Amino acid sequence: MLIKHEKIETNVILMLVLTLLTVSIGGLVEIVPLYTIETTIEEVDGVRPYSPLELVGRNVYIREGCYLCHSQQIRPFRDEVERYGHYSIAAESMYDHPFQWGSKRTGPDLARVGGKYSNEWHVAHLSDPRSVVPESIMPGYSFLANQELDVSDISAHLETNRIVGVPYSDEMIAQAAADLAAQAGADEDTDGLLARYPKAVSGDFDGDAGRITEMDALISYLQMLGTLVDFSRYDHDDLQQ
Ligand code: HEC
Repeated sequence: MLIKHEKIETNVILMLVLTLLTVSIGGLVEIVPLYTIETTIEEVDGVRPYSPLELVGRNVYIREGCYLCHSQQIRPFRDEVERYGHYSIAAESMYDHPFQWGSKRTGPDLARVGGKYSNEWHVAHLSDPRSVVPESIMPGYSFLANQELDVSDISAHLETNRIVGVPYSDEMIAQAAADLAAQAGADEDTDGLLARYPKAVSGDFDGDAGRITEMDALISYLQMLGTLVDFSRYDHDDLQQ
């Protein structure tokens, strides 16, 4: 055995070929399963594509780099589950392009922050975090309330997401601007919105009913995070030991 190994160690070319072979086997084992990703993510009741307003809010979240301080992935450990709620499941981020799991928690995980606070709290917190959490080191984003949304390209945005696999229907794309306005409280009739995006929370998020701002969009996104799957239907005993 050792003699054979000596042969490898003294022959650079042979060593290189065998190294490449070993590395490519390892690579294949990691990469090949990804081609069957559709079959590895289980469909879960309640998970739906983002509504147009939530999608725009998500873009603001990415643009402002919120992910640099906030993760969106609750790990299956007791301390995490007790603090944040049921651990995250793959299906919850299946329509995320790109996903927002994050790797840094300067602030708390936001995967289930939806419904935890009122819209007014979010406006106050995003405008001046220290007004509600005196010890906070989070920067303020008050300017978001002054930036009106430009939604002229919202249908195209949904279409682009469809190209990468999000199942937006033709109807959703055609109704995108109307759904966005309805969710932001500009239209009382939210039946169409709710039929297309069940559980979509609508209203005037930023307290300024006259305009639809980036603050509206961001808060609508925060308020839906983690609210789509009804975890009370699942057995929690395995988490409570
Ligand atoms: C420099 C790091 C940093 C950045 C960037 C940051 N945050 Fe925070 N965030 C924090 C910290 C620290 C806290 C905990 C203290 C507090 O509540 O303000 C926090 C708390 C929060 C909370 C309350 C979470 C809870 O469960 O109590 C929300 C919601 C939030 N941030 C949203 C955002 C959004 C949206 C953005 C981007 C616009 C953002 N944060 C950017 C550090 C950050």
